[in-house]
Amino acid sequence: MTHQDILHWLTCEDDGELETLWRRADETRAASVGDEIYLRGLVEVSNYCCRLCTYCGLRADNSSLYRYRMDADEVVDCARQAVSFGYGTVVLQAGEDFHLSGEWFEDVISRIKSETPVAVTLSLGERKPAELERWKKAGADRYLLRFETSNRNLFDKIHPPRTPNEYSDRMDLLRTLSEIGYEVGSGVMIGIPGQTWADLANDILAFSGWDLDMVGVGPFIPHPATPLGNPSPSDFAAPTEQVPATELMTYKTLALTRLLCPTVNLPATTALATINPKQGRELALKRGANIIMPNITPLKYRTRYEIYPGKAAKNETAEETNGKVVGQVSRMGRTIGSGRGDSPHYRKNKVLNAHLKEL
Ligand code: 5AD
Repeated sequence: MTHQDILHWLTCEDDGELETLWRRADETRAASVGDEIYLRGLVEVSNYCCRLCTYCGLRADNSSLYRYRMDADEVVDCARQAVSFGYGTVVLQAGEDFHLSGEWFEDVISRIKSETPVAVTLSLGERKPAELERWKKAGADRYLLRFETSNRNLFDKIHPPRTPNEYSDRMDLLRTLSEIGYEVGSGVMIGIPGQTWADLANDILAFSGWDLDMVGVGPFIPHPATPLGNPSPSDFAAPTEQVPATELMTYKTLALTRLLCPTVNLPATTALATINPKQGRELALKRGANIIMPNITPLKYRTRYEIYPGKAAKNETAEETNGKVVGQVSRMGRTIGSGRGDSPHYRKNKVLNAHLKEL
């Protein structure tokens, strides 16, 4: 599919034609990753963050946010709970919180890996290559780091460097993660002020160009305590160029990603479930997605992990969230996958690399 083809679909408003896109994405999903939906238990370990991203409610200078850090025992307990729900993966996510050291995570990862059978996915921001290696050695399996937008100027605008002299190079980090041996996931937000149709088409092409194992996409949701919660007209691209942060645009991006990257794992994201609590997940799962990440963060913390306002499942216990998700999947007549649910894309490449080494 060319850039032009992608642009055609992104701007298409014909319902009949879009039905074809949904059907093709669903058929490709079934043929490439199967009918099982895999569940990942999401644990929001800390909402401290040293960064000043203009879109994110966890940004360091948001003084209205009550900060927390879970302790190691609490995180390991969440992993045990994930096992009791039958999940094959826990995702440990946090702001860029360097108070949680390389050693601290190493200990938590080792404990989860020795005490439970789950795969461990990390989503901890831009950490040092030495830490990433250390965590892989401790048993971590996967890493998620969205590149947010492939437009370098826009990225620099919404994602200031940690210190003025630093250059934040997420592409380089994604390469490092892959070399270390992680199964690697990335993704973007849809409808960031300043994001054009051409940018989003480039993002989708980048997913396949970089050979990702997992791709997460969701709509941008303005947070009032951030600069982009109150954007100025100059933040936006020209009206004919600006991508809207809508549900429909998210489905289109999911479907196109499935067509371009047939074997990736593709979640129906929380941001999508937030803008359409009734149907967002279900429609995503019928238009290319094959993963759900139920939040299993203890209730007392999860209300405070406010990346954006109104986050789905904000006031639920892990049991309630799990019950709802399981119900949703069974009402769709789909089954929940058992086991780790590794990305078929990663498994395929691993076998290929093993063969190449033998030659
Ligand atoms: N709206 C939607 N998604 C957001 N994220 C951060 N802030 C927002 C927001 N305001 C997404 C980013 C980040 C992921 C953890 O959450 O893409 O990588």
